[in-house]
Amino acid sequence: MNKKFYITTPIYYPSAKPHMGHAYSSIIADFFARFKKIDGHEVHFLTGTDEHGLKIQRSAEKQGVDTLEFCNKISQTFRDLSKTLNLTNTDFIRTTEKRHKKTVQHLWNELENNDDIYLSKYTGWYSVSDEAFYNEDEIEEVDGNKIAISSKSNVEWIEEESYFFRLSKWQKPLLNYYETHPNFIGPETRKNEVISFVKSGLKDLSVSRKSFSWGIKVPNNKNHIIYVWLDALTNYLSALNYPDTNDELFKNFWPASVHLIGKDILRFHAIYWPAFLLAAKIELPSRIYGHGWILSGEEKMSKSKGNILDPIEIINQYGLDPLRYYLIKEVSFGNDGNISQEKLEDCINSDLANNFGNLCQRVTTFAIKNCESKIPKRIEFQKEDLEILDKYKNNLDNIRKKIDNQNINFYIDYIVNSLFEANKYFNDQEPWKKKDNPLRLNTIVFTGLEIVRKISFMLYPIIPNSSLKALKIFNLTEKDINFSSIENNEFLAKDSEINEIDILFKKIEKKND
Ligand code: ME8
Ligand code: MG
Repeated sequence: MNKKFYITTPIYYPSAKPHMGHAYSSIIADFFARFKKIDGHEVHFLTGTDEHGLKIQRSAEKQGVDTLEFCNKISQTFRDLSKTLNLTNTDFIRTTEKRHKKTVQHLWNELENNDDIYLSKYTGWYSVSDEAFYNEDEIEEVDGNKIAISSKSNVEWIEEESYFFRLSKWQKPLLNYYETHPNFIGPETRKNEVISFVKSGLKDLSVSRKSFSWGIKVPNNKNHIIYVWLDALTNYLSALNYPDTNDELFKNFWPASVHLIGKDILRFHAIYWPAFLLAAKIELPSRIYGHGWILSGEEKMSKSKGNILDPIEIINQYGLDPLRYYLIKEVSFGNDGNISQEKLEDCINSDLANNFGNLCQRVTTFAIKNCESKIPKRIEFQKEDLEILDKYKNNLDNIRKKIDNQNINFYIDYIVNSLFEANKYFNDQEPWKKKDNPLRLNTIVFTGLEIVRKISFMLYPIIPNSSLKALKIFNLTEKDINFSSIENNEFLAKDSEINEIDILFKKIEKKND
């Protein structure tokens, strides 16, 4: 039986078309999905759109279109983006789908039957942009407007009848859970934020609204619709056909391995979601990881601030893989990061073209000229060859561990160092001076080719298309990629044909050069 891996992105609000922040989360999730896949896991990778609530209803009203039609149109742009980003998602869920509504209503009934829901009245602040309730001490007044301190979005006053979830009752069990499952929330700093928030006390949570209609109805009271976050979070279960616990998807993939999210929605995922699940007696996901924000200047890039960078424009200009590589490398994972075209161009030129592209090109060209376009047959490794080749083998378990801790920074640094090392190896060994010693020349070429192969395997989760392009040198395809085989120093079929490949990355001519 294959090991199973279930990863999710947030389901995005289709209130406007996707921007770089959404692309970022999705690309990172795809990185993990692809990594796990080549490391022998069966992977379920879920993304989708979060279509209910006042935020969406108002966005549709503003444009004067029917709400569902509005959602259909924008949800499609997110689905299209998944294709454009070359995501390997195995499902795309919309909260307006029947399969989802069924699960949400079932979960509601569970919570109500377990006496975790009661009817009362909500009086307080609400941000439609965040779809979140805020306490008095979480808001401030700027230019006569009340805004949430954390997100800077406007809040409005609400007073209406509402169902409440007994969140307060779950304060202790949650704290206990965090303590007994130290890997539940990552990174560490986020975990500490969550714990101190929960320690400061949890109030019961309003989980229904009465004053608008765009949402899933409360099963036994059609005047109320279910709070959009209770609705949205449940997508992770409805995509597995919960409550049908005999369903293969549910049996195989719940509990989720990682809910990958941005830190903006940590509270919902690390407090509300586990509380709902505890109350419904459903197993909790293994890990919640809240990454940082892509900034535009000093601010979070967001639709509501209008400071967005369009991923499609960047892809049209530079290509997909450079963008994927850049986002994964340059935004230190877990932290906020500024992105700029300038830095993207540097990345393409130095890492992709000079380092990876150059390595592939020079080793292949040399092999074609000096080894009859074939993978050398007679080789005899020396100490310096095995030293560089074995390094990969010796690091595989460590890399797996780092990945399970979402330490992407380690992974990319490892690759960048390996590339420098590989180029240095080829320079130092000077195969062009070994023409009178074919055994040595062949061995250096073979070692060089194996390194290209190993690094291309490692790059596959980051830049899949370029990795596959490089692997054409050896006639290898997607199905040949296997993380474990990186430890094999003689994976390449000896005496088989080597193919010339086109330049992998074109250098960008910079204006100031
Ligand atoms: O919050 N930098 O949807 P949303 C990095 N529907 N990531 C960013 C980002 C940025 N500047 N901006 C957005 C919602 N993201 C809810 C989620 S889940 C059950 C419901 C990414 O459209 C990041 O993953 O506002 C963030 O958490 C998510 O998009 C928010 O997307
Ligand atoms: Mg948002």
